[in-house]
Amino acid sequence: MCGIVGYLGKKQAAPLLLDGLKRLEYRGYDSAGICVLTPQGDLDIVRVVGKIAGLEERLRARPLEGSVALGHSRWATHGRPSEENAHPHTDCKGGVVLVHNGIIENYQELKEGLLKRKHKFRSETDTEVLAHLFEEEISRGNGASETAVVSSVRRVLKQLRGAYSLVVMSKKWGRQIIGIRKDCPLVVGLGAGESLLASDIPALLPFTKNVVFIEDNEIVLLREGRRPVIFNGSGKAVNRPSQEVPWDPLMAEKGGYKHFMHKEIFEGPRSFEDTLRARSYEENLEALLAEAAIRRQEIMRLRRVTILACGTAYHAGMIGEYLFEQWAKLPARAEIASEFRYASRSIEPGTLTVAISQSGETADTIAAMKLCRKTSASVTMGIVNQIGSTLTRQTRGTLYTRCGPEIGVASTKAFVAQLAALYLLVLGIARVRGAIAPVQFKEITRELCEIPNKLRWVLQETEPRVMALAQEFQQAKGFLYLGRHLLYPVALEGALKLKEISYIHAEGYAAGEMKHGPIALIDSEMPVFCLAPRSSLIYEKMRSNMEEARARGARIIAVVTKGDRSLDKIAHQTIVTPVLKHEEFEPVLAAAVTQLFAYHVARLKGLDVDQPRNLAKSVTVE
Ligand code: G6P
Repeated sequence: MCGIVGYLGKKQAAPLLLDGLKRLEYRGYDSAGICVLTPQGDLDIVRVVGKIAGLEERLRARPLEGSVALGHSRWATHGRPSEENAHPHTDCKGGVVLVHNGIIENYQELKEGLLKRKHKFRSETDTEVLAHLFEEEISRGNGASETAVVSSVRRVLKQLRGAYSLVVMSKKWGRQIIGIRKDCPLVVGLGAGESLLASDIPALLPFTKNVVFIEDNEIVLLREGRRPVIFNGSGKAVNRPSQEVPWDPLMAEKGGYKHFMHKEIFEGPRSFEDTLRARSYEENLEALLAEAAIRRQEIMRLRRVTILACGTAYHAGMIGEYLFEQWAKLPARAEIASEFRYASRSIEPGTLTVAISQSGETADTIAAMKLCRKTSASVTMGIVNQIGSTLTRQTRGTLYTRCGPEIGVASTKAFVAQLAALYLLVLGIARVRGAIAPVQFKEITRELCEIPNKLRWVLQETEPRVMALAQEFQQAKGFLYLGRHLLYPVALEGALKLKEISYIHAEGYAAGEMKHGPIALIDSEMPVFCLAPRSSLIYEKMRSNMEEARARGARIIAVVTKGDRSLDKIAHQTIVTPVLKHEEFEPVLAAAVTQLFAYHVARLKGLDVDQPRNLAKSVTVE
């Protein structure tokens, strides 16, 4: 949560940071601000409540001049969204300015100490405390030399508890910027004669693809005319080569779509395809296992699988649970990471632990994985989209999904790509364990490779009908999503998509459980979205559930298989998806329909689809 950026170079910094912040706005949009070091050596700050568009307007009226700067977009934790609580924050004398992502857990204690030392506070934030601490230590320090700067910073860090990434400037330091990372992301971009700092790669893409990831407890110093220098926790310089990000800047643009979410739904097929590339055939198996960092002997010794994730990634994990059991014959359990970390589960020997995360920065998923790593019994890996993110450094192996940046707060293409990665992983493990024969493996992978085109067909062919349904149902007060077996997680995901962007209450339910409660809600005012493709083993059961809902007056939208007319009389409207040989792939197609439906409902309601209220894309705090 919270996007942070920094710039040091020759260009006017404010417009560049504004652009960077727009690309990070999915991290938080409660308030925003920029501070520049003026040519006269002063710190000039502009802050606004609300979105970056407001900041842009303010900067048009009052442009900031300077080529060293930092900026922030906020997702409020301590203190309501207001101008006083907006970042950047300064100390009493205005000599230090900083932006922060994370939470300072001992800020109360630190604040009391500062108050006793006569510091005056203007905000309710934990962050402001840091500005005062930096000011004290910098004044105590010995000038602006590299050694002096780093030792002042280290003296501050010693006092802190919590998670933070920070970008700091000081009048005394002049044209230098400090970046600090502990448990929150920070990446340096190396441009031509300029260096940047950002919490995520998309903010850097217009300037450079050449990046260096900062590790926990490290400090990075950006200075005029030289490569940024990284210092480890003990103050020693670290030599880390840069790496090139294989993402195109255009991936982070809307490309003619009104919303990122719409564009990203339509990027689902490409994301699925790219995730499969050079990984899906038997001859790719060794390379796949190498990426996941699991040895064949370990696979043979596996006894169970634990999947850790949050939000949409958790729903992908639930589908993974079915896949592991169906194909690899391995007991599997998907766990909500925030629950797992406080449950007293033991990780038994022979457990493969897979964390799934688009951002790789979700605090609970990272903490749950850390917990698992403590038990040497567990083989750990991640299915992650964001290159170089924290989670990728917590696991032994990473199977990257290849979606490119996902900007819409509601996850869509990442979900589709997570499924692609799970298919690959489970099939690979099943093959090594001999749970599926070579012929079966070939047959399944043949259909796996056809999924992107089938998904393209679903998106193109069903959208007009889905739009008409969205029009008809946009005023609904509530929605029930029903599915069974592999489609139960899709029912949960469909309901989640609808509630997060259209603010319509929606519940996902295992259709068999309908009679144990939700049926009481059903009447003509409660539409029911049923996932009922024909290839599914539980088709007949699903059909009975639909009959029961209809008998109570529900209007049913049903996702059915092409050519199946038998549900036409029960459903108010049907949406068809292509025939599949393997029911395991149904979730990909059904999920696309629910994504489109949620998108069009929210769009028709005129809501902010890409930045729904109260949400943030990366939940980097607990
Ligand atoms: C937030 C986002 C969701 C996402 C979840 C997990 O809630 O709004 O779209 O599914 O976090 O994020 P991750 O980056 O770990 O997949």
